[in-house]
Amino acid sequence: MKDLLKLLDLSKEEILRILNVADQMKYNQKHGLTHNYLQGKTLAMIFEKNSTRTRVSFETGMFQLGGHALFLSSKESQIGRGEPVEDTARVLSRYCDGIMIRTYSQEEVEKLAQYADIPVINGLTDFAHPCQVLADLMTIREHQSKLEGLKMCFIGDGNNMVNSLIVGGLKVGMEVSVACPEGYDPHPDVLAFANSAPYAGKFTLVRDPLEAARGADVVFTDVWASMGQEEEAAQRRAAFAGYQVNEDLMKVTNPACMVQHCLPAHRGEEITAGVFEAHAEEIFDEAENRLHAQKAVMYLLMGEQ
Ligand code: CP
Ligand code: NVA
Repeated sequence: MKDLLKLLDLSKEEILRILNVADQMKYNQKHGLTHNYLQGKTLAMIFEKNSTRTRVSFETGMFQLGGHALFLSSKESQIGRGEPVEDTARVLSRYCDGIMIRTYSQEEVEKLAQYADIPVINGLTDFAHPCQVLADLMTIREHQSKLEGLKMCFIGDGNNMVNSLIVGGLKVGMEVSVACPEGYDPHPDVLAFANSAPYAGKFTLVRDPLEAARGADVVFTDVWASMGQEEEAAQRRAAFAGYQVNEDLMKVTNPACMVQHCLPAHRGEEITAGVFEAHAEEIFDEAENRLHAQKAVMYLLMGEQ
């Protein structure tokens, strides 16, 4: 594994290895064990979209591993003035040891990785959010002691989150069911993956949220309008009415069902305040696990092993 661009690129074994190292990173931190695995190393963090969790968890994670993180907003760097990604990749490769990028186009991230000599980590594109889903799988395993055989359900928009959840969930042996309104399906490449061997039969895409949620062990949702879709917000509010994780939906899941949300959450839209608060502990564990999962990713990609 040279980069982390999308979960489609990783094997089941690579995903599980990251989760195992992430558990170890968390254990070490909770027990005051420090490791300077990335001493003297620098991570360039390019942000073309807003962030709270991704920025803070990567920057803190680098510091905790003995390295340094640089925040590069597209507005204040030459990226925002149109410097080609091919050139940015080759320049940063001369200074830094890794690049984390949050942007719109997956193709841009793939091109960055193609031209960079150092590892590239996708911190969210319109297509994928692999770091988030690694933290999500870590959290599910922490709470349920396993992943294989559990039923994951996603209610809402066919966006970057569900694209990555479908791939990550199926690869680790979960059953995945998704309810999206017509016209808002997950990416065709992800659907092709999910409907191919050996995953076909473990994946369902339906229109009825209750059908998707029936018997679920973990329910996910995400905002109805992602970053970059602000102008479509009103139209999306209408399209997604009924695609809400609420008390009625939770009644058809398994009694011990978890709820996960990558955050930020819009209470009263994709999730009710009641369901959010009832599952707040799991949701904030999920947010915390971004730190541990990304420390694992950075150690595996940028550390000396
Ligand atoms: N979940 C997530 O990626 O949060 P941020 O947008 O705050 O980084
Ligand atoms: N789907 C959301 C996730 C935010 C972490 C977005 O892209 O804005």
